[in-house]
Amino acid sequence: MAYSYHKPTRDTCEVCEQLAKADKCMPVIDTYAGRASSSNGYPFHDWYNFVLGYTPTFPEYMLKREGIKPNNGQVVMDPFVGSGTTQLVCKLNKIPSYGIDANDFMVFAALQKLNWNIDTTILEKEKIRICNIYKAKIASIDLNDDLLVATKANQSRPQALDIRYISDKPLIKINILKEAVNEAKLSAAHHDLFMFAISAILVPVSNVRYGPGFGVGKQKPDVDVMSYFIKKVDLIIKDLLSVSEEQRQTLSETILGDSRHLSDYFAPESVDLMITSPPYPGDHEYTKHSKLELIFNGYATDLSSFRTIKKRMIRGSTTNIYKEDNDKKWIENINGIKTVTNEIDQRLKNDGATSGFEKLYTKLIWEYFGGMAMTLSECLKVLKPGGKIALLVSDSHAFKMVHIKTAELLAEVAKSVGFCDSEIILWQMKNSTSHKYKLRENILILKKP
Ligand SMILES: C[S@@+](CC[C@H](N)C(=O)[O-])C[C@H]1O[C@@H](n2cnc3c(N)ncnc32)[C@H](O)[C@@H]1O
Repeated sequence: MAYSYHKPTRDTCEVCEQLAKADKCMPVIDTYAGRASSSNGYPFHDWYNFVLGYTPTFPEYMLKREGIKPNNGQVVMDPFVGSGTTQLVCKLNKIPSYGIDANDFMVFAALQKLNWNIDTTILEKEKIRICNIYKAKIASIDLNDDLLVATKANQSRPQALDIRYISDKPLIKINILKEAVNEAKLSAAHHDLFMFAISAILVPVSNVRYGPGFGVGKQKPDVDVMSYFIKKVDLIIKDLLSVSEEQRQTLSETILGDSRHLSDYFAPESVDLMITSPPYPGDHEYTKHSKLELIFNGYATDLSSFRTIKKRMIRGSTTNIYKEDNDKKWIENINGIKTVTNEIDQRLKNDGATSGFEKLYTKLIWEYFGGMAMTLSECLKVLKPGGKIALLVSDSHAFKMVHIKTAELLAEVAKSVGFCDSEIILWQMKNSTSHKYKLRENILILKKP
């Protein structure tokens, strides 16, 4: 098993014990009267499984709570759009939205999920044509010839793709499926949608597993790639058929970029409400959660192209931190962050910690909150006066088990850049895979004066 999260070094947490004693409020998710918290069956949401994404329930809850309605000029934005859940909920509710993400594949995925101007009758016929091209190609290869399979897989394995990630036969089949889509001579929009459908089955046909960290599970020597593909395309067609003309026409724009420079891309005072889940200080490296998809779509072909994407991101992991980083300058005087970093330093000393990644812990915390300060000050420019941002963030124990109260610290950061009001709502208690405590996932709501 190769899950890459650093094991906690302690098994008790005083802060968790105190919070449990003082707890009076129920998490929203246990009392919410809207759609069930499970996202299963929510149209478009299941097209792609983003391990670090959230359920549509969160943006639904926020739209209702803040009285955002269609046809009254209100606009929503997600500055960390991921696979587009906020924008999807907005579009289904006929509310115009913008989104931005630093990861090329995430933007591609969100764009596919939000483009509803697709002719499903043509799509159905194209699916059959692609399957026929695929079958003819597969029939010409003897997949029982182990030497031939190994040679062919070696020739077509992208350079950045570790041999353990996907077995030879599924790799050959995926590549043939891509060739079939290319040979079917489709319009750009349909070509992209089929490529997306292939991307969305990469993890299930591969040996990669998330728990939630990136890992390699049991090797799958062979997989029925075509069945996965047909099932995915059928789901896509079913959901596209379910939308109304008004939903189809609702504006949604999603772009690639770094939200620490949000006002370079979006007009000032143009957004009423931002609904998002930013990275949080949990040592997640956000290109890892779309590693196969980035490689297979050619967005990242080697270490340097992965680094280009990672540098666009808020620093959230010890594998995404660079000598020249200096977002810290935004928050140097914030006491809450000083307290947390001092505590981590103390524990590192007590434990005699010497490894390279441990030495980066406090720098990472400073850079993370500094990057968030920069983003929040940009959000202020793009929000209308009185506009709000709702951030879904989890507490963290990722660094020497020091309890990081993410929402509380971000509220302090937000105040320092000019937000006037903040409110914290307990959304849910999240199970941890590595210790006995449940961690709080809060919604932090900030208001622009
Ligand atoms: C927790 S995920 C968002 C989940 C998403 N709302 C969903 O449900 O699909 C955080 C996202 O922030 C993106 N991100 C990190 N740093 C960024 C930056 N500086 N600018 C834009 N996006 C960034 C990551 O690529 C990742 O997709």
